Amino acid sequence: MESILEKYDAVALEDVTIWFKAAAKSDFPSDGGACVKYKDKQIAVFNFTRLNKWYACQNVCPHKLEMVLSRGMIGDEKGTPKVACPMHKKTFSLESGENLNGDLDAIATYPVKIEDDFVFIGFSD
Ligand code: FES
Repeated sequence: MESILEKYDAVALEDVTIWFKAAAKSDFPSDGGACVKYKDKQIAVFNFTRLNKWYACQNVCPHKLEMVLSRGMIGDEKGTPKVACPMHKKTFSLESGENLNGDLDAIATYPVKIEDDFVFIGFSD
């Protein structure tokens, strides 16, 4: 069980060594998410249209290790963009990954950039 979470380490912008071309912008719903695969990782990517921002994080929820976060509701909590897991509504900051309504481990977050209408996710492996 632990090994699923061990695959996911947050990547800071300055540590990016590979920009993975995930998909066209138009493949992601407005104010919603979709899952992409990078190597053996499932990454949830969110098109936060309302804020004109993009976010990426691990798709696996640390609560019950379900691969579901890309289907979560996005919103904000006191100015912090967040995703709520569709299973039991645990919420996580899309910036720091912190669990905002509990004491679960933080989720891994990844930098996102948009170039030529394509979405790229930053990794260091
Ligand atoms: S599996 Fe995500 S909150 Fe329970």
